[in-house]
Amino acid sequence: MDEKAWQKRYEREKTARLQAEKIAEEKIREISCRNLELKNLTENLEQQTKERTAELEANNHRLVDSRNALRAQKKELQETNQRLREKAAELENVSHHKSQFLANVSHELRTPLNSLMILASLLADNQEGNLTSEQIQSVQIIFNSSNELLEIIEDILDMSRAEAGELSIYHEDILLGDIWRSLTDQFMPVSKEKGIEFEVVCAPDLPEWIHTDRKRLKQILKNLLANAFKFTPKDGSIKLVIHKETWRLGKEYTSEGLVFQVIDNGVGIPVEKHETVFHLFKQADGAISRKYGGTGLGLSISRKLARLLEGDLTLESEENKGATFSLLLPPLTLVTTEESIRGVDSEFIIVSEEDTTDYFSGQQVLLVDDDLRNSFALSRLLEGQGLKVHLAESGEQALSFLEENKNIELVLLDLMMPTIDGCAVLAQFRSKVELQLMPVIILTGSTLKDDEVRCRAAGADDYLQKPVEVRVLINRIQSWLTA
Ligand SMILES: Nc1ncnc2c1ncn2[C@@H]1O[C@H](COP(=O)(O)OP(=O)(O)O)[C@@H](O)[C@H]1O
Ligand SMILES: [Mg+2]
Repeated sequence: MDEKAWQKRYEREKTARLQAEKIAEEKIREISCRNLELKNLTENLEQQTKERTAELEANNHRLVDSRNALRAQKKELQETNQRLREKAAELENVSHHKSQFLANVSHELRTPLNSLMILASLLADNQEGNLTSEQIQSVQIIFNSSNELLEIIEDILDMSRAEAGELSIYHEDILLGDIWRSLTDQFMPVSKEKGIEFEVVCAPDLPEWIHTDRKRLKQILKNLLANAFKFTPKDGSIKLVIHKETWRLGKEYTSEGLVFQVIDNGVGIPVEKHETVFHLFKQADGAISRKYGGTGLGLSISRKLARLLEGDLTLESEENKGATFSLLLPPLTLVTTEESIRGVDSEFIIVSEEDTTDYFSGQQVLLVDDDLRNSFALSRLLEGQGLKVHLAESGEQALSFLEENKNIELVLLDLMMPTIDGCAVLAQFRSKVELQLMPVIILTGSTLKDDEVRCRAAGADDYLQKPVEVRVLINRIQSWLTA
C-alpha cells in the first residue's frame, strides 16, 4: 500500500475514532444525567417513604388513642348500665311499696271514714227528732266533707292503679235509668244551691239495660258533672244528654253505641288547652286551683276509664262559651234482651224522707268486725231497718256464737282482723256442715284486686267495699235473706 493510501486510511480511522469518542462522551453524559435523575428520584422516594411512615405512625398513635378512649367509654357505659339496672330494680321496689302503701293507707283512711259517714247520715236523719235544724245542717256538712275526702282518696288510688296498669273494669248488666236518676238525685241539690239550671235529656229510643261497668260509668259522669257545676257561674245551665249514635264497624256493619254528653254554658276552655286538661294534675291555668280548688286528676282518670270501657271521652269548647264533654260507649254496651238479673241492686234509689218502711222484719244477722266504731255504726244502721244485729269482735267469737245460736240468717264479715283474717274465718265456717249454706257477705276496706278473688274462692257469697253505700248493703242483705 502506498503512502497516500495509508494516509487516507489513517484519516478515515481517525475520523471514525473521533466519532466513536464523541458518541461515547454523549453516552457518558446521558448516563450521568440518568444517574442524577435516579439519585433525585431515590431521594424523593426516601423522603416520601419517611413522610408516609411518619404519617402512619401518627395514625397509629391516633388509633391507639381512640381505641383507649373507646375502651374507657365502654367501661363507663357498662358502669352506667349497671347503675341503671340497680336504679330500675330500686324503682320497681319503690313502686311496689308505693302501691302497697297506698292500698294500706286507703284502708286506714276508709275505715274511720266509713263510721264517720254512717253515723253522720244516721244523725242527719234525726229519727228521735231532738236535733235543731242547725245541728242537722252541721251533721250534713260533716257527711258531705267526708264524702269529698273519700272521693279524693278514690282519685289518688285510681291514679296509682292507672300508673301500675291495674285499673280494673267489671262489666255487668245495669239499668240505664238507675245511672241518670242517681246522678239527678245527687246533683239536683247542688243545682238549687248554686242557682244553676240542671236537666237530664234522654232520647226516646234508649235501651232499658246496658252492659258496662256501673261504678266506672257513674264515676266518669260524676266527674264531668262536678266539673260542669264547678266551672259554671250562677244562672248558668247544665244538661246531661243521653242518646244513641252509630258506630261504623267495618264497611258494611254499623251499630248503635251510646253517647253521654255533659253540656254547660260556663267559663269554657281555650282551644290550646283542650289536650292538656286531660293530663294528670293539669288544670286549664294556674289560677284555677286557687279559685276553684281541685287536684287536676278527674279528667285524666275519666278518659283512661272511658278507654278501658272501650269508648272515649272528647271535648268541644271555647273560652267563655261553655264546654261539652262527650263520653262515647261502644255498641256492645247495649243489651237487647231484657233479662233481670239477681244481684242487680238499685243502689241509686234514694229513699225519700217520708219513706220510712222497714226493709226487714226482725231477721237476725251476725256482724263480725274488730273495729268497734264500725260495728256500732253499722249495727245502728241495720237495726234501724228492722234487723236484729249481733256482734262478734273476732273469728273465734263468731264461730262459738254461731254454734250456740241457730237462728242467725246471715253473716257480715270484716276481712282484715288481727288474729284470724276474714278469709280464714270463712274457710272455718265452710268446713262445718251446718254453716256451709250460711250467706256470708264480706265487708272490707281493702282495695286489692286479689282480695275479692281470694274471698270468693273461700266461699264468700258477696263482697262489698267500705264505705258501703247504705242502699247497696241493704239491697244485698235483702237479696240474700229472701234467696
Ligand atoms: N266544664 C268545664 N268548664 C271549664 N273548664 C273545665 C271544665 N271541666 C274541666 N275543666 C278544666 O279542666 C281542668 C281539669 O279538670 P279535672 O281533671 O277534673 O281537675 P280538677 O277538677 O281537679 O281541676 C280543670 O281544672 C279546668 O281547668
Ligand atoms: Mg274535676
